[in-house]
Amino acid sequence: MKDHLFEQSQVMEDRHLYDKAVFHTLLRRHKELRREVTYLPDGIRAVTTSDQPDLVRLIQEHAQAMHQRMSEGFGLRFWDPAFLEIFAQADAIVFKIGMLPNGVVANSTSEDPNVVKLIYTHAQAVSSFVDEGFIAARRATSLPEGYFRKLSGED
Ligand code: HEM
Repeated sequence: MKDHLFEQSQVMEDRHLYDKAVFHTLLRRHKELRREVTYLPDGIRAVTTSDQPDLVRLIQEHAQAMHQRMSEGFGLRFWDPAFLEIFAQADAIVFKIGMLPNGVVANSTSEDPNVVKLIYTHAQAVSSFVDEGFIAARRATSLPEGYFRKLSGED
């Protein structure tokens, strides 16, 4: 039993290290990425692309890996309030990822207007990663104005 738990945590750790290597490459090469976000009444549609085939593969892999982690509650960036909340609200968000020849199109929507605000904020955070790379990634993402937290915590 103990060995099984150890193996499981090793698998999770390896997965996290792999995911981190992928998003670090995206951050390092952010100037080779493009992103356009359309704000919809119930969420967003975001198109993230690159002219570099290796980056196209990594964007596609990252978006799928992150959605998989959302569905498992396998969080990350625990020091960042908006990322903590997006994982806490995963059940209230409908994600759809489509593959494009040069990237991904992501649709994230919710029936809950409170969660829609969070979806906008997360999409802006990802756009700031594309615009500024590591400079943006070191900044915490503020929760949207008027947003009601699902997790308790200090304000
Ligand atoms: C330049 C760097 C990055 C790019 C291009 C990128 C791209 C994307 C894309 C295309 C999605 C799908 C949803 C959407 O398009 O809005 C996504 C989702 C996500 N990304 Fe990234 N990302 C980057 C950096 C990061 C970093 C540094 C983290 C965390 C450490 C992260 C965590 C997440 C999470 C948790 C999701 C799922 C939540 C959601 O889709 O709303 N990303 N990212």
